Amino acid sequence: MSKVSFFSGEAVPLEMHKVRIVQKLNLVPIERRLAALNEAGNNTFLLKNADIFLDMLTDSGVNAMSDKQLAAMMESDDSYAGSATFTKLENKIRELFGKEYFLPVHQGRAAENIISRVFVTPGSIVPMNYHFTTTKAHIVLNGGSVEEIIIDEGLKVTSDCQFKGNMCTDKLEETIVRNGAAKIAYVRIETGTNLIGGQPHSLDNLREVRKVCDKYGLMIVFDASLLADNLYFIKTREEACKNLSIREITMQISELCDIIYFSARKLGCARGGGICTNSQEAFLKMRELVTLYEGFLTYGGMSIREIEAITVGLEETMDEDMVSQGPQFIEYMVNELDRQGVPVITPAGGLGCHLDAMRFLPHIPQSQYPAGALASALYLVSSVRGMERGSVSEQRDENGNEVYSNMELLRLALPRRVFTLSQLKYAIDRIVWLYKNRDLVGGLTFVEEPKMLRFFFGKLATTSDWQSKLLEKFKADLGSNL
Ligand code: F0G
Repeated sequence: MSKVSFFSGEAVPLEMHKVRIVQKLNLVPIERRLAALNEAGNNTFLLKNADIFLDMLTDSGVNAMSDKQLAAMMESDDSYAGSATFTKLENKIRELFGKEYFLPVHQGRAAENIISRVFVTPGSIVPMNYHFTTTKAHIVLNGGSVEEIIIDEGLKVTSDCQFKGNMCTDKLEETIVRNGAAKIAYVRIETGTNLIGGQPHSLDNLREVRKVCDKYGLMIVFDASLLADNLYFIKTREEACKNLSIREITMQISELCDIIYFSARKLGCARGGGICTNSQEAFLKMRELVTLYEGFLTYGGMSIREIEAITVGLEETMDEDMVSQGPQFIEYMVNELDRQGVPVITPAGGLGCHLDAMRFLPHIPQSQYPAGALASALYLVSSVRGMERGSVSEQRDENGNEVYSNMELLRLALPRRVFTLSQLKYAIDRIVWLYKNRDLVGGLTFVEEPKMLRFFFGKLATTSDWQSKLLEKFKADLGSNL
């Protein structure tokens, strides 16, 4: 989406695609939404689509696909071994990333399982700019631990730093020296850093990380799941990259990394995943586990139709119009909420708009999960589904104590090419209403709390009857306006 100026001067993100397939949405009345929240234990993961108007839970597996992707799915070559469809993807990976060896997996966390099983041993450490939930879980499961060495600016909710996802290379070197290089399994860089608000790293920072890794003989494992947004930010925010094409930036990133893995539920707008490398040794070690956990080497647990769609989706990711749609819609939403005084993560990043629950609901202590409460309250007043990215998404420590998260965020993901500007305006309108009525929102407490990844299936209850008060106020202000 090249920035098109409007005569009016208004900053409007303009779609460079047209919609040719649509899905009808439901907007159920607020009373039904209250009942749905009770059934779901105030956990937005447990809500049903029939009760949801705008699903901003995630961009995973729900980005809009292109006509060319759908067409490619029709001509896929199905076979257990040796399918021509797989060869197309393998060749596309070679072309875009310059990596010789490619292993297919069924989604991103399956790649994390394989990489962690091969390279993480009990006591080893994985320094990274920031963790993702499934990444950390796999590393810990294999006896390793995570050290987060994001730059200080990365953890500030409001900032004008353009690359909050950068790794602090001084801290990286300090971590390596303190532990000894032998204890470092590898250094992980997550592009488009998810849990701190979809914030990018620069190409220059990756180069600096490479220098440190070279000095100590360490591998860089690059999580490319959110690469599309990060490519856009490198192109538009990094002075030295202004004249590089998206394709050239992709190749330069790849040349700095030893192993690249991705969730194709995000990168490539389909469903699946993969790992690529130029190291034959690493490839051979991981290959055995792919056949054990995923499937044969020419499908890796993916439907062959999805593999066709990924190949086309990766190629389409090299188009600047395509990679700019998400960031520009997100920027519109973030800037509009910011303008109206609603606390959001700034600057706008990729993935979605992130509300800062600590400032939105300062009266709710972390022990009562402000981000979870905000997710529940926003669904009630709008039927917009977001995802809690705060302490509910953390895990208790080995003594059963809460581990409070650095940030309490409500993520409102914007799946690419899915929502229209008027739908965004509706979401913004309801968020602003909620912010004006924030004193009515109360906390949550666990009533069912699984030990692992509790945010997926845990159930919570409200600490008072704040939801019915919020409902009454909503009806008083907006009448029967659902
Ligand atoms: N890495 C990153 C940066 C991710 O955002 C995700 C998934 C994964 C790895 C795991 O990939 O889901 O295909 O197994 N993020 C999703 C989200 C779940 O909603 O942000 P997966």
